[in-house]
Amino acid sequence: MNRASFQKEKGTVDLIPPSDHDGPPGLHAAEARHHRSYSKEAVVYDQKRFETFGEQLIMGMLDSALREWLRPSKGRRILDVAAGTCRASIELARHGATVVGVDLTEEMLRQGQTKIAEAGITTIRLHRANGRQLPFKDNSFDHAISLRFMHLIPLEFQRLFLNEMMRVLKPGGYMIVEFNNPFYGGLFGFYHSWLNWKQRRQKPPGRLWPHQVPALFAGFRMVGRVGIRLPGMGRIARWSRKWALRYGRMAHHFPLNLVAGTTLFICQKDPG
Ligand SMILES: C[S@@+](CC[C@H](N)C(=O)[O-])C[C@H]1O[C@@H](n2cnc3c(N)ncnc32)[C@H](O)[C@@H]1O
Repeated sequence: MNRASFQKEKGTVDLIPPSDHDGPPGLHAAEARHHRSYSKEAVVYDQKRFETFGEQLIMGMLDSALREWLRPSKGRRILDVAAGTCRASIELARHGATVVGVDLTEEMLRQGQTKIAEAGITTIRLHRANGRQLPFKDNSFDHAISLRFMHLIPLEFQRLFLNEMMRVLKPGGYMIVEFNNPFYGGLFGFYHSWLNWKQRRQKPPGRLWPHQVPALFAGFRMVGRVGIRLPGMGRIARWSRKWALRYGRMAHHFPLNLVAGTTLFICQKDPG
């Protein structure tokens, strides 16, 4: 990272030009694509992703899993990689944590910054940076999260991001990363994955298959695998929210965590 090229703007967003000219070409092209598409989508991102009844229920389950593992009280410093419009950062800050959000797309961060100001939160700082080259010292965060992000990155490059999150974590801290499973999108999603495989001998991008997990997390100390998003949760919730939550919580553990739409993989940095 070229420190001389840092450019600071008013407010809480530090515009740190991400390293646009390095990195493997396959990854660099994907990042440029995502930057373009999220720049366009930023203003409607929350409305599209978080406003349906089913999504709100799922986010509630996700947040409760994060609180359970991270205990985001005052004094905890948490990093949110690919923070986007800062939904999770705000939730963690509301519980007392100090949060640092990093994202490649300035427009997404600007949306987040507006929400942070409206909520009157002063304990979140945002940086524009690349998740595979974090502008932070080793061992500087109590915990690190990354949600709804890894499915955008080709499997062969995901480890770059995980290594970087681990580097900035303090010993004993948790890294929580969300991945899409082959069952993302329910049975139809699974059928789609299978069809893709059969017709083109390709796995659809963005889904982590169980046999890929050991290599991706090799050398890390995995302490939890929490399933989020069971098919039909939204439908059950229309009838009874209480039963939908009970049903959803079953995905937190084996074996239903294997068929959940997404999984939070939780790794602890060696306490030393
Ligand atoms: C689907 S959004 C997820 C945002 C947020 N984590 C959430 O849960 O809503 C994906 C985000 O990843 C960001 N992104 C893509 N490539 C990135 C990279 N290499 N480093 C940091 N952020 C990146 C995009 O700008 C976008 O904001």
